[in-house]
Amino acid sequence: MFVIWFLKPGTAFDIEFCRSAKVKKMVGAGWILSFCFLLVVNGVTVHASEELQPYRTSFHFQPLKNWINDPNGPMYFNGVYHLFYQYNPYGPLWGNISWGHSISYDLVNWFLLEPALSPKEPYDVKGCLSGSTTILDGLKPIILYTGQEVNDSQVQNLAFPKNFSDPLLKDWIKWSGNPILTPDNDIYPEQFRDPSTAWMGPDGKWRIVIGSEINGHGAALLYYSTNGISWTRSDKPLHFSSNISMWECPDFYPVSNLSKDGIDTSFQGNSTMHVLKASFNSSDYYVIGRYDPKVDQFHVVTNDFSVSNTQLRYDYGKFYASKTFYDDAKKRRVLWGWVAEVDDALDAIKRGWSGLQSFPRSIWFSATRKQLVQWPVDEIKKLRAKHVNMENRELMGGSLLEVPDIRGSQADIEVLFSLSNLSDAEMINSDIVDPQLLCEQKNVSQIGSFGPFGVLVLVSNNLDEQTAVFFRVFKGPNMFHVLMCSDQTRSSIAQTMGGNSMYGALLDLDPLHEKISLRSLIDHSIVESFGGHGLACITARVYPKLAIHEHAKLYVFNNGTKSVTLSSLNAWNMNKAQIVPMD
Ligand code: FRU
Repeated sequence: MFVIWFLKPGTAFDIEFCRSAKVKKMVGAGWILSFCFLLVVNGVTVHASEELQPYRTSFHFQPLKNWINDPNGPMYFNGVYHLFYQYNPYGPLWGNISWGHSISYDLVNWFLLEPALSPKEPYDVKGCLSGSTTILDGLKPIILYTGQEVNDSQVQNLAFPKNFSDPLLKDWIKWSGNPILTPDNDIYPEQFRDPSTAWMGPDGKWRIVIGSEINGHGAALLYYSTNGISWTRSDKPLHFSSNISMWECPDFYPVSNLSKDGIDTSFQGNSTMHVLKASFNSSDYYVIGRYDPKVDQFHVVTNDFSVSNTQLRYDYGKFYASKTFYDDAKKRRVLWGWVAEVDDALDAIKRGWSGLQSFPRSIWFSATRKQLVQWPVDEIKKLRAKHVNMENRELMGGSLLEVPDIRGSQADIEVLFSLSNLSDAEMINSDIVDPQLLCEQKNVSQIGSFGPFGVLVLVSNNLDEQTAVFFRVFKGPNMFHVLMCSDQTRSSIAQTMGGNSMYGALLDLDPLHEKISLRSLIDHSIVESFGGHGLACITARVYPKLAIHEHAKLYVFNNGTKSVTLSSLNAWNMNKAQIVPMD
């Protein structure tokens, strides 16, 4: 009993102990079972050991168990990073949707707090859905979130900290005047959700966008407020698109034309362009444009939203419902995205959890300013342990080079390739390329001239299991095309994977003059890859059976007929981040 008292509720206890034949033999099976039963009824979390949980991640954010989806209201306030997220406190599937809440001092290690919002009131009884935080006057953070009513109608609600001077902002109070916004007659009541962070215009009024669909057009509805509490709708949406249905989780923010520094959401000036992101068709699409806050006009200068593999996306793999925030401490804009599971609900039930967050990424404009660049926040380096380096290796056609001494299930790898004599590149007859399709056609087993070359991650001893992240270079009528693919077709010998088994993206770089880089964050069941120093990201979920823990290996390879130079390779074992309940 003393031990149970000592292991207070919230403590995690390894279920392997309860199952161990050795322990059962020593102490007696009956005693052990009663002890473990008592642990559970006393609220001690009994979780499966690492061996039984090969897919739990080590440095990607996950709560100890249960379901999560969208990141909500990330912010930096008074020296603390806050991450809220759609969370089911009672199980591994979507339901009882609350705002889980965790805090961090470095975006790497996290303390798990009690949920900030739970579905209890008539205006959110069927779920506290997604939303954002805004720091009013630099001093007062508020949450705007969607509540789902009993009849499934979606309304917007407000919450604020119980105690503004609590550095952790543990307790949140729902505003007595909720709901603050209900759907107008032209809005489908079930398609009115996910308020954005507010920004202030030159007239001193706050603005937000809310995701919706009007007459079959996905839209970012625009609202104004003078105090953050009462909001009125603008006659016209900030933006909409005629060929896409419901937009979820819109995000709207300025990006500097001059530097990699992020800028506050309310910044006004000529040196910026604005990004509008909308989530639909299981992806996060974005456009870049000029925003005039005096008349609230947003003029898109890139291709407008469309469901197409050539449309700009944050990530060409598994990544959805993302949200950015401005980090005043480090002058950067940081992006979080939900990386869902791709196996089925039964697997989630067996594991006891489902979903994780991408590693937070800094974002800025590429040199062409035609797209964003994304890169894991620098703090990730804290977790880097043993380092392996290789320089200037010629990878002849057919090369397979093992990266020695790296625990391939938990690693960070950066490689740089250089190519020469590109006149021998494979020809394709168009300069309009669908990368997803091309990756499917020119998969890793189809030998080309330049490529496939790249890395094989989460590789089993006999190579039966492997996930390939690779490049191929083609010559079109007027330009070269650098294709980046992530191939999950051989990721697991127990091929139970849903989702796409192949993801593809194009890198906007000139392989004649630039080297081709690849960075992959490998974390047990997630491979988050950044091509061309962050010009394209592809995140994949994989569930190897053999390539787990210390059995996972890492390789560089070249299956093209032309040789490729591995200019440099740096790989690190990664330590585990601390993600623990706050006492
Ligand atoms: C996006 C989304 C949001 C909604 C939330 C509910 O994944 O569907 O539109 O608010 O999830 O959990």
